[in-house]
Amino acid sequence: MALTHLNIDNVRNLRRVRLEGFARANVFFGANGSGKTSVLESIHLLGMARSFRGASVKSVITHGESQCTVHGRAAQSLGVQRTRLGEAQIRIGGQPVRTVAELAGELPLQVITADSFGLLTGPPGARRQFLDWGVFHVEQGFFPHWQRFQRCIKQRNNLLRRDKIPDQELSVWTRDLAKAGTAINDYRAAYFEQLAPRFQAIMGTLSPGLTGVELHYRQGWDRQLSYAEALAHGLPTDREQGFTHTGPQRADIRVTAGGHGAAETLSRGQQKLVVCALKLAQGQMMAEMGKGACTYLIDDLPAELDAEHARLVCAALAAMESQVFVTCVEEQEIRAVWPVDKDLAMFHVEHGQVTPVATTAVAANPGNS
Ligand SMILES: Nc1ncnc2c1ncn2[C@@H]1O[C@H](COP(=O)(O)OP(=O)(O)O)[C@@H](O)[C@H]1O
Ligand SMILES: [Mg+2]
Repeated sequence: MALTHLNIDNVRNLRRVRLEGFARANVFFGANGSGKTSVLESIHLLGMARSFRGASVKSVITHGESQCTVHGRAAQSLGVQRTRLGEAQIRIGGQPVRTVAELAGELPLQVITADSFGLLTGPPGARRQFLDWGVFHVEQGFFPHWQRFQRCIKQRNNLLRRDKIPDQELSVWTRDLAKAGTAINDYRAAYFEQLAPRFQAIMGTLSPGLTGVELHYRQGWDRQLSYAEALAHGLPTDREQGFTHTGPQRADIRVTAGGHGAAETLSRGQQKLVVCALKLAQGQMMAEMGKGACTYLIDDLPAELDAEHARLVCAALAAMESQVFVTCVEEQEIRAVWPVDKDLAMFHVEHGQVTPVATTAVAANPGNS
């Protein structure tokens, strides 16, 4: 599923970039503001039809332009165009597709940026999203239940907000919610069982000195009860508060270090290693389950890490089947710590221009696309 070509038009300061000859590990280096993160953002647009920076696509489009376009080739050719008005045009193998979900399996991405610390330090939503991303990619049956759950909880909460709650209708939605919620939890719990040991093993290679980091799955209601029972128990509170307060929408993964919250205990560098281990474990699990390799987008890989830990992270990445796109400021920061020289393609980014500097990478002839 490796990316072989990438054409970027009007993504931030990248007005026109034509790249090919990617390797296993592709390093974009250059000064602040040169356009490195924007290259990763472009690949993210290609795989997800949206940016990983901010919610609005408008800020991504080059000032003064009405649209941005990214084309690429992985297993098939992919194309995404976004306009200032928020419209998205997505093409897979030259054919237009209507939903972003159809794009999801084409170029599964794992992103590690400064925002990824939120996975440890932020509210549970990010951790649920992380968990669900993984389940979605390995379990086909998950998504329909997830969609049904979203619909049921919305309807049930609408009823709970009413002055006079129609009991009959409420019990119908409660029953359906219990069913969908149970299914979601079963999928999540089974996935977590497989993720946690992989995380432990990877954590051990990334930071042999840091022991006692553990993951704990919280399902969102009392473990002694079925979800139907928990909903029955919680009904008086739900009525009083006007929403469903227990269930998979409250699930979380708690990360601890030596029994204490990881966010409050670990240094920034250690937190980064935990985030890397989570994302690597997820990618490894996908590959092992025959769902293909993820593509890793890692912004400013060396940030927060000393040379030895940067080396360990690169070694772990190199050991995976995955293709990797990373950024750094100085060429040597990655070149010096990546274990296999021939796996590297280096690109210098300067004022929105991207120039290959390694023999393994060749720029396409400009105007030849
Ligand atoms: N919509 C936009 N149009 C044009 N330039 C932009 C836009 N948004 C950001 N920029 C500029 O793009 C440049 C590249 O940003 P970025 O990729 O974040 O740089 P880097 O990661 O190399 O530090 C910055 O100089 C920024 O000011
Ligand atoms: Mg940047």
